[in-house]
Amino acid sequence: MSPSFADSEQDDLYDHDLSRIGVSLPSNLLQSFDQILKNRGYSSRSEGIRDAIRSYIRYHKWMADLSGPRQGIITLVYDHHQRGLVAAITDIQHDYMELIQASLHSHVTHNRCVEVLLVKGDAQQVKGIAERLMAQKGVETVKLTTIPLEG
Ligand code: NI
Repeated sequence: MSPSFADSEQDDLYDHDLSRIGVSLPSNLLQSFDQILKNRGYSSRSEGIRDAIRSYIRYHKWMADLSGPRQGIITLVYDHHQRGLVAAITDIQHDYMELIQASLHSHVTHNRCVEVLLVKGDAQQVKGIAERLMAQKGVETVKLTTIPLEG
């Protein structure tokens, strides 16, 4: 994800007291990850995983700290062949119809769609839409950008 949020200069995510974990991953996921690490010049997979987890934590902290009235732009990419997904996405959008100002849909490939939602409202509600969409099976990516309405 490349959300629009400011990375903190330094935070508490660099403790040197290491714990070892074992994780099972689909091989294509690991291959894609390793390719990124190679392109970015990482010296070890562990360091890449640590950075990825730090980004994930920062992103979700940023999401949790969002507050106040916002203009939001939600971009989602999904597989429309995933059973029940189109109906689920439509249901979610109807649940938030007071916040959603406009939506734009484009058929990207045979099975992938991109949808852009313009939403306006309380930051936590805007975030709620993005999180519900993110939780659906078959949704590949959800990006949320927000703009404060004050100031
Ligand atoms: Ni489509």
